[in-house]
Amino acid sequence: MFERHRPTWVEIHLDNLYHNWRIMNDHISPKMVIPVVKGDAYSHALPPVVRYFWKKGVGLFATSLLEEALEAKRAAPDSEVLVMGAVLPEDFDRLAESGIMFTVSTEELFRKALAHPGPLRIHLKADTGMHRRGFVDEEEIARVAKKAFEAENIRLEGIYTHFATADDDEKYLLGQKAKFERMLDKLEKRPPMVHASNTSAIMKYERDIPHTTHARMGIGLYGTSLEEKNCGFNLKETFTLKSKIIEIKELKKGDRISYNLTYEAQTDERIAVLPIGYADGFIRKNQGGQVVIGNDRYTIVGRICMDHTFVRVDEHVHVGDTAVLIGGGIHVDEVAERTGTINYEVFCQISARVPRIHIGEDGET
Ligand SMILES: Cc1ncc(COP(=O)(O)O)c(C=O)c1O
Repeated sequence: MFERHRPTWVEIHLDNLYHNWRIMNDHISPKMVIPVVKGDAYSHALPPVVRYFWKKGVGLFATSLLEEALEAKRAAPDSEVLVMGAVLPEDFDRLAESGIMFTVSTEELFRKALAHPGPLRIHLKADTGMHRRGFVDEEEIARVAKKAFEAENIRLEGIYTHFATADDDEKYLLGQKAKFERMLDKLEKRPPMVHASNTSAIMKYERDIPHTTHARMGIGLYGTSLEEKNCGFNLKETFTLKSKIIEIKELKKGDRISYNLTYEAQTDERIAVLPIGYADGFIRKNQGGQVVIGNDRYTIVGRICMDHTFVRVDEHVHVGDTAVLIGGGIHVDEVAERTGTINYEVFCQISARVPRIHIGEDGET
């Protein structure tokens, strides 16, 4: 996005992304794991991620937006992409011409698609209990599927649902699974792709879900999950946020620092200044957390500013040293816990102002 000058960046480990995909894909083989690359590939930068997978022979992706799907197509021209989020009838021309698959979640949108010359490639979304989007009624989705199969201008490529509680409520998930199976049983014919699981469900249930052909993996691809110890799967970290110390302040005992002077030196102290702040998505709630410099952990002190963060260091630390703020010793889950959120949001918070450096087989991009 920007020319790179400031020494703050995220390293993206493409080989680890592929490793994470491969172990989960092996786990459910012969079903296939679809990499979910919405939200700019969970903030890992969509184009290089898609291009890397594509070079590895993975040619099917899921996004939320049509814009993201078009970006994926530019990165991997003959790949298949499913838009899971909302599309408007105004988008049908672009969808038809690009061959991008999209989600139909209401009969009203389906009727509008029927009226378009096409060809439109669709997946029907079944609402089995998440109550976000999709057909609730089993008869209705069967009727729409029948009409879709009959229509000249429509290709029914898939049907899918999404679990609301894959990471915490097994009973509810099993109810959703049962409802999805009832919906599938009502179809006269199945489309080629049937999918339901996200990362947690892939880890715990996918092997016991009959009828599905694919699963959609987001957070697991990016090296983590909401599951304790990733259910024993050896996922590797993909995202490391780093920043180099630009200045070291020598504080006298009693000196206070940053806005509102919330931190007071208890003794003579050295405070390292990092050129990263909440405009980069390194939010103020990180105050009191830790970073790694060399092999040691140091504490973030004082208010985090829009562009600066302060760390109490010792005599071993110098201007120009690199601090690791997320990844590499500071697990994303630690950051999520300290800031009161989930790992997904920690990734997505790191703003486009921070350059992503992609490290992989072909070197840095
Ligand atoms: C419809 C749908 N499928 C799959 C995913 C991927 O989920 P996860 O990141 O938990 O694997 C998401 C993410 O929120 C989603 O909305």
